[in-house]
Amino acid sequence: MATANPTATVLLTGASQGIGKAILLALACGGNSVLGLSRTKPEDLSNPTLPFEADCIAWKPLDLSNTDEVAQFASSLGPIAVRALILCAADYGPGGRHLASATPATEWQQVIATNCVGHCILISSLLPKLIANSPGVIINISSDVALLPADGRAAYATSKAGLHAMLRAVAAEHSTECLRVYQLVPTFQLLTSGMRRRRPAGFDFSSYADPALIAQAVDEILSPSGNPLTPGTYLVHRDSAMSQYPEITHILG
Ligand SMILES: NC(=O)c1ccc[n+]([C@@H]2O[C@H](COP(=O)([O-])OP(=O)(O)OC[C@H]3O[C@@H](n4cnc5c(N)ncnc54)[C@H](OP(=O)(O)O)[C@@H]3O)[C@@H](O)[C@H]2O)c1
Repeated sequence: MATANPTATVLLTGASQGIGKAILLALACGGNSVLGLSRTKPEDLSNPTLPFEADCIAWKPLDLSNTDEVAQFASSLGPIAVRALILCAADYGPGGRHLASATPATEWQQVIATNCVGHCILISSLLPKLIANSPGVIINISSDVALLPADGRAAYATSKAGLHAMLRAVAAEHSTECLRVYQLVPTFQLLTSGMRRRRPAGFDFSSYADPALIAQAVDEILSPSGNPLTPGTYLVHRDSAMSQYPEITHILG
């Protein structure tokens, strides 16, 4: 995809592990300059055997649940040009699945603050930078829970649906010449370290896929070659192919 400055920085939340770390490595291997954000530093980035230029990767600590910190981070970027923002961080909440009626106030607050409010502040603060490098790109690693009923995961689903809706509003507010918003919905589960921690001991992960598949889809969207993918919501399939998800755009007559 042609942008005003294809060497401008790609910002990525959730960079420390899982899908976010896979995206960080894939983009750096492709020569993109990536600034990863998370509370903890991604491991192994100083490993000299990794096949990418370490210069391509930078990392800064950021706690998305702290709104002041998010706003400060955005203003600390100063003159740095940003061409894309990739949203991958997620707080799944404590414990396993439980009913909405058994979800404590602390969980609603923490999960929605991180996944939705923190990302919303980051996005709105960075929109001028993205548009200055038109077309700026936002890629949200969304979820089936943003679109479908998710019993036992009400706080997580609320947070993902909120962010999904916010981005649809932002996309509607801008022409695609200024801003391209993509929301990717994996159609399968991915084996990440977070997922390993959340599942019981002895869990069978054989149907879970490699997070690199999502990284491949992100890389394709950001690739400077070829025709740009039409912005919108996409289902990502097991071969990393994407098919557009037809969201309703009108209800009121
Ligand atoms: N795994 C799947 O099967 C699957 C399926 C569909 C969609 N998704 C979506 O894909 C994304 C990544 O999932 P994943 O499985 O890779 O997750 P994960 O392994 O649990 O990693 C979550 C990431 O979010 C960051 N994070 C959590 N709380 C944060 C906070 N308060 N501030 C800043 N960063 C925070 C973590 O970094 P720190 O702890 O270092 O801060 C970590 O890098 C999520 O948006 C999820 O909804 C995943």
